[in-house]
Amino acid sequence: MRDVSIAFMTGIAMVWGAQVAQAQTSDAGPGQKLFQQRCGACHQITTARNGVGPNLQTVMGSKPGSVEGFKYSAALLSSGITWSPETLDTFLTNPGAMVRGTRMTQRFNKEDERRAIIDFLVNR
Ligand code: HEC
Repeated sequence: MRDVSIAFMTGIAMVWGAQVAQAQTSDAGPGQKLFQQRCGACHQITTARNGVGPNLQTVMGSKPGSVEGFKYSAALLSSGITWSPETLDTFLTNPGAMVRGTRMTQRFNKEDERRAIIDFLVNR
């Protein structure tokens, strides 16, 4: 009898866990979650506030310098970049290699994570 009830409880816990996982993925896609985890400390996406980095609400198709009120580095301002999935992928892989002297220094080595984050920025 005891074994049966333990099995029953385990079953309930598993179903409950699966529902929680499902609820999380339907609220926020993998790209959105990764954005919050990897970029959210410095970049806002749902508000136009600037933090350590500029807000990224209108980043796709823009050029550095377009976000009002953010003080960009001279290096990024003179880079001549237009943000597209391709330029963003190169930048995120190693910002300092693409734009020597940029104040964004963190590298994002995982290709699948970069792709998910870029998809989110393109499609949100
Ligand atoms: C530790 C803080 C920090 C993190 C984390 C960070 N960034 Fe940045 N980001 C910056 C700073 C600072 C700048 C401005 C750099 C400059 O002026 O040289 C910037 C600039 C940018 C720009 C250029 C924006 C424009 O208007 O031209 C893009 C695009 C960008 N970041 C994307 C990302 C993405 C996507 C992530 C997450 C994968 C990320 N950043 C993570 C600090 C950060």
